[in-house]
Amino acid sequence: MPLVSTRQLLDEAAKGGYGVGAFNVNDMEQIQAIMSAAKETNSPVIIQASRGAREFAQDNYLYHLMLAAAELYPEIPLAMHLDHGNSFETCESAIKLGFTSVMMDGSLKTDGKTPATFEENVEVTRKVVDYAHERGISVEGEIGVLGGIEDGHGAGGSGLDHVTDPDQAVEFAERTGVDSLAIAIGTSHGAYKFTKKPDGSVLKMDLLIAIHKRLPNTHLVMHGSSSVPKDLQDIVNQYGGKLKETWGVPVEEIQLGIKNGVRKINVDTDNRLAITGAIRKVLWETPEKFDPRDYMKPARAAMQKVVALRMTQFGQAGHAGDYKAISIPDMAKGYKNGTLITKPLVAAK
Ligand code: 13P
Repeated sequence: MPLVSTRQLLDEAAKGGYGVGAFNVNDMEQIQAIMSAAKETNSPVIIQASRGAREFAQDNYLYHLMLAAAELYPEIPLAMHLDHGNSFETCESAIKLGFTSVMMDGSLKTDGKTPATFEENVEVTRKVVDYAHERGISVEGEIGVLGGIEDGHGAGGSGLDHVTDPDQAVEFAERTGVDSLAIAIGTSHGAYKFTKKPDGSVLKMDLLIAIHKRLPNTHLVMHGSSSVPKDLQDIVNQYGGKLKETWGVPVEEIQLGIKNGVRKINVDTDNRLAITGAIRKVLWETPEKFDPRDYMKPARAAMQKVVALRMTQFGQAGHAGDYKAISIPDMAKGYKNGTLITKPLVAAK
């Protein structure tokens, strides 16, 4: 199957009542791990790259690795997504390269650190939507600001500093025409999200449910959704790592989100932990080894295990064969003739 639009994957997920994991990558082994997990569980999947990943891997390597994945797994619907674009130009360059969806994170200014005003966010996101839809590419916007920093991008601080206001979410969706909307409900990027198992005072699932009630047809996106499982933390620490005690987003809260309009779930940290734990174990137990394959193979397998588990937990498992790809030029036609309606349905308060 050619690379497909994230919008198609999310529309199908909404029909089927499930969520789709969006997994971050920087290199070939991570792409291989995700595709093996998708095949193992028969799942559609979103692979995403941040600006940091594009810089690390270089755009051309990244794009051709994604084409290889699509070629090797024609039965898997696969979207290539830009995570946290910081400006129109970053989104434009991703679309020119061949990404099939982009996130314009206008919640922050172009420095990727300072919170932007609502009007600035609407303006830049609308500009990206106009450019992208003309080319059949879907757009994720963000309203409210996530906590933490990932790959140098983020306002830092707590996930509770700038949670999403439901009225602003409605106005933002109406004025920008985004295909999906990332909301801030107390999560943050990275391993250190919560200092104890999160309750409603720090993870605002009630807010998510309120936003879904107002915007029942808008695909919601949960960022910062690693669960940071204790067993993965323990492996890292058992073999010389120094992670402090921490909690992530419990999978049952993500599943509650999926019942309430969440269609895309971003996961990076859990895979980083799985890879690092597996590499540490090999190097710790067999320090004489020096062939990278001796530790990259178990690292890849450890990531595949985490991704396959999440695919099952999010409900996307078993859905790869449900539909045929809509080509990107046909997506462009759909935006033009109005069949891919991006005016959200807004319910009364
Ligand atoms: P985690 O750090 O929780 O994996 O979040 C990743 C993410 O949201 C990427 O945009």
